[in-house]
Amino acid sequence: MSTTVNILGIAGSLRRASYNRAALRAAQHLLPQDATLDIFDLDGIPGFNQDEEQYPPVKVTELKARVRAADAILFATPEYNYSMLGVQKNASDWASRSYGDSAWEGKPVALMGASPGMLGTARAQYQLRQVFVFLNMYPLNRPEVMIAQADKRFDAAGNLIEEQAKEFIRQLLQNLATWTRHLQKVQV
Ligand code: FNR
Repeated sequence: MSTTVNILGIAGSLRRASYNRAALRAAQHLLPQDATLDIFDLDGIPGFNQDEEQYPPVKVTELKARVRAADAILFATPEYNYSMLGVQKNASDWASRSYGDSAWEGKPVALMGASPGMLGTARAQYQLRQVFVFLNMYPLNRPEVMIAQADKRFDAAGNLIEEQAKEFIRQLLQNLATWTRHLQKVQV
């Protein structure tokens, strides 16, 4: 019998009507058996300041604790100017410090993203994958979930209404749970 995989979802947008926040909410209804998905809201994460890394703001301490408690991470990333948003990078940096005390260390991670553009956050996602290298996270390669033309895939209330996108997210979550269980069995 397999154990429950507890996933922490983090959206890289602070926008109230964010498609990426909405994609995470959709994912909560597309989970495989024996997996959970809690969401951590980045609202309140300040700009990273190394002078404060020994005594970080409460919101950062909370982020680190939630990341540590999770078996796996799911990022839903927007794309601004061909890049991830500042708050997402700041969260990555805060939770990676101080040196030797990174909360991201060894975590399995999956990625998805939504944008009204044609590439569905592809560029921001590949940037994040680069960050995962130094964070020593273990990214899932497939499926790549890039929800392009997001304005057509979500309704006005923020519900994901396209079956194909739902199917990609369902597969992503299934693969993340399998990947996490696999990594739990091996010493990397
Ligand atoms: C954007 N947007 C955008 N979209 C994209 O696909 N590639 C990009 O490089 C950019 N650049 C960009 C810059 C700035 C400053 C803004 C405000 C917007 C559009 C962006 O994807 C859109 O606002 C999404 O809705 C943002 O994600 P959330 O907030 O819906 O999750």
